[in-house]
Amino acid sequence: MPRPLEDVNSQLNRHNLLMLAQQYDGPVWAYDAQLIRQQIDKLRQFDVIRFAQKACSNLHILRLMREAGVKVDSVSAGEIERALAAGYQAGAQSDEIVFTADVLDAPTLTRVNQLKIPLNTGSVDMLHQLGAVSEGHRVWLRINPGFGHGHSQKTNTGGENSKHGIWYRDLPIALDAIRRYNLKLIGFHMHIGSGVDYRHLAQVCEAMVEHVIVSSHDIEAISAGGGLSVPYLSGGETIDTRHYFDLWDSARQRITDHLGHPVKLEIEPGRFLVAESGVLISQVRAVKQMGRRHFVLVDAGFNDLMRPAMYGSYHHISALAGDGRPLDGVNKLETVVAGPLCESGDVFTQQEGGKVETRKLPEVRPGDYLIFHDTGAYGASMSSNYNSRPLLPEVLFDQGQVRQIRRRQSIDELLALER
Ligand code: LLP
Repeated sequence: MPRPLEDVNSQLNRHNLLMLAQQYDGPVWAYDAQLIRQQIDKLRQFDVIRFAQKACSNLHILRLMREAGVKVDSVSAGEIERALAAGYQAGAQSDEIVFTADVLDAPTLTRVNQLKIPLNTGSVDMLHQLGAVSEGHRVWLRINPGFGHGHSQKTNTGGENSKHGIWYRDLPIALDAIRRYNLKLIGFHMHIGSGVDYRHLAQVCEAMVEHVIVSSHDIEAISAGGGLSVPYLSGGETIDTRHYFDLWDSARQRITDHLGHPVKLEIEPGRFLVAESGVLISQVRAVKQMGRRHFVLVDAGFNDLMRPAMYGSYHHISALAGDGRPLDGVNKLETVVAGPLCESGDVFTQQEGGKVETRKLPEVRPGDYLIFHDTGAYGASMSSNYNSRPLLPEVLFDQGQVRQIRRRQSIDELLALER
């Protein structure tokens, strides 16, 4: 939920953000650790909360998760190394790290095998590749149930237009491969998309129960995947996590009754845990009028915050005066907010498909700041070096302290790979 900058319960308040903005020479990501812990606590009913680190993979955020008892999902060799560096354990007895993918490249397969990290399998070929080198390895099966949903077509991970998971009708083939290599099936996993509408939940739970029963294979656990949405718009729907748990819990109960022993229930959120805990602070560098359009150009671009350009995602924007003057009574203008990139799509106020929109913002001038809210998930982690722009610093507020948890990349570091 876009928090007012006066929110006394958040350290991402006007005073702290202005202090950071003035201290850093350029855009910076800021997170509030306490807000992350509050979100974790809303899901404590699940047996395992597994953080989909792709949403925000900074080592210090991963350490915070681990200290709060949250396990972790990795989707690349890099994310495995991040999990290890954050103190997560791997090994034949550990389920702290799970590797989820639809393909296994050769070096990643070697690492997964060395560390005996359970594999959440999204294709039958992965089972063959793993089985050939690691007999008895622990696996999950990620099922594509034939339908999916997401906040954008690009985040829908189910149905026949999605590359993800094992098609539900191919489950017998996957189970054959599991028997052939004597792999150890831990459970079934279903993640139908990101930013999922709650009306789909009952259908997902039903599909999970049906597939467990039809497969007639014993399992220890089921995973509800991630996908829980957050209200990016003020007044947007907030998830009732108790209802969410209850639906999954009754699916789990039916599976328990069918198998005749307890079954663990996992959840694997990314966005829900971190989105609302983060902001991106940018500085206004130019203001211009283009015909009827009023543009405010800031020093952060879509290489930093990609979601508006990629999905037409909405992020609430608030203004902070660089000189401390009050902006409350200031004239409001329909504003297009854009970045510095040499590309027309570098606009933060746009719909999916690229249609430019405006936002009613106080009249600002160069030297003022614009804050992009709810950018803790898929913000820094989706940034790139496009236009040869270095990655931004990140800071974490925790218990009254502020800590830099990533420094700004230098241009030398950026060029080093090519030297
Ligand atoms: N589990 C699996 C297997 C996933 O593929 C994902 C996200 C998650 C869990 C976590 O989903 P979440 O709880 O965060 O919705 N870049 C997009 C989101 C892409 C999500 C990809 N997979 C965005 O900015 O909205």
